[in-house]
Amino acid sequence: MSAPNFASESIWTGDNLAVLRGINSGCVDLIYLDPPFNSNRLYEAPIGSKAAGASFKDAWTLDDVDVYEHGELADRNPAAYSVIEAARQSHGKGMQSYLIFMAVRLLEMQRILKSTGSIYLHCDTTAGHYLKLLMDSVFGAANFKTSIAWKRSVAHSDTKQGRKQHGRIQDTLLFYVAGARWTWNPVYVDYDPEYVDGFYRHTETETGRRYRKGDLTAAKPGGDTLYDWRVKRRKDGDWVADLEDEWMAPRDEWEYLGVGPYRNRYWAYSKTKMREFAHQGRLVYASTGMPNYKRYLDEMPGVPLQDLWTDIPVALGKERTGYPTQKPLALLDRIIRASSNEGDMVLDPFCGCATTLVAADRLRRKWAGIDLSALAVKLVDDRIAEDRGLWGGATALTQPPKRTDLGTLPNYRTHRHRLYGEQEGVCVGCETHFPFRVMEVDHILPRSRGGTDHPDNLQLLCSGCNRSKAGRTMAEWRAAQ
Ligand SMILES: C[S@@+](CC[C@H](N)C(=O)[O-])C[C@H]1O[C@@H](n2cnc3c(N)ncnc32)[C@H](O)[C@@H]1O
Repeated sequence: MSAPNFASESIWTGDNLAVLRGINSGCVDLIYLDPPFNSNRLYEAPIGSKAAGASFKDAWTLDDVDVYEHGELADRNPAAYSVIEAARQSHGKGMQSYLIFMAVRLLEMQRILKSTGSIYLHCDTTAGHYLKLLMDSVFGAANFKTSIAWKRSVAHSDTKQGRKQHGRIQDTLLFYVAGARWTWNPVYVDYDPEYVDGFYRHTETETGRRYRKGDLTAAKPGGDTLYDWRVKRRKDGDWVADLEDEWMAPRDEWEYLGVGPYRNRYWAYSKTKMREFAHQGRLVYASTGMPNYKRYLDEMPGVPLQDLWTDIPVALGKERTGYPTQKPLALLDRIIRASSNEGDMVLDPFCGCATTLVAADRLRRKWAGIDLSALAVKLVDDRIAEDRGLWGGATALTQPPKRTDLGTLPNYRTHRHRLYGEQEGVCVGCETHFPFRVMEVDHILPRSRGGTDHPDNLQLLCSGCNRSKAGRTMAEWRAAQ
């Protein structure tokens, strides 16, 4: 793990790949990404909304991706490469292009995540099945935790219904962790009213508190669990326990509620504990005199959150910015609470109108975002200003950060001899053999695009090819030949 090489409250405008490549390894606690879904649509914010002017294209061809990156995937992650190849065969080049775009970015996200970190990928049925396989390839199938179904809208009849199919009202959140020990804060939600009515059927007259009756016997013996519990019916009909330590009252005035092997039941608690319950008024008696434990509804944490989320509506009312595909703050609040702690770094590499960043800010997390659209910076400023009343301004950036976790790498030119040997004197550009003096060390991914001096990012080109390639990626340069 290393320290982040960027300040909290940074927002980059630009392609997230270059920015991700510039971020130090293992320095982010939580990544939430809500990328384009490959929906074959152009999204535009309505004129007059806070987000007016924002738009993004979600239709893909091979021209949208760097084919060099596709080749690079074959070396870096053969499993991901195979998934993409399978998608090309079953779905065509649009899906292939989209998945290449996603895979190279997911690889960077895996690299920058802390070993205790988590990632949530928001998608839908358009490409979710392929994205699950890509995530398995990049993060490891064993690190998959849950696929959450978020009910994003109420039942509707859209044009697709006319095409004879079920209405699509759910999105999917694929939740993965980086390693064996990840940050997790259990989240509880309110009980279903039907469950409350069905189980918490009793109300205490004096306090109005609702409770359910809990069994005080158990099937397995353990410790001090085999004793008589003495109860007596009072004149008013209520049963009471004899709480005198010595059980002094004449025996015939009391009934003894026995448990034991003959009934295959034992008390679930020791006698001391039972007395404590009785003193606290937590025992309630059945008509037989059998004590039960009062389990109060207001003491229960709620239901542990499950993988079906139907209680969060889309962003409505004042929260709505008009940004196409805006997600609700409550959704991000839930994710951030569960998978990070105060002070942790949360990153959204497709931050749109900055929902994640606003939610993270409210929960006192550090945060950073990236989006192609410059409007994201303005929206996060506006939205957080509304929250805080006064706002110092997010740091708006356009240049990718420079990695500081690589130590002091030797000057990249010192790799010339090694590379000459490995490439057997052949220029990667024109594939021609040259004498050593003509060869120059080139950054495969230019430094201006987040490429580093790391040996993996270096190759030898002849001086002619190197001059011609200049600040471009190999694919851009090849495409221009
Ligand atoms: C589905 S929206 C995200 C919406 C966001 N979750 C919100 O609540 O506002 C996807 C966003 O990804 C951005 N985007 C698409 N390609 C990108 C890229 N290569 N780098 C950075 N952002 C990108 C789009 O501009 C768009 O804002």
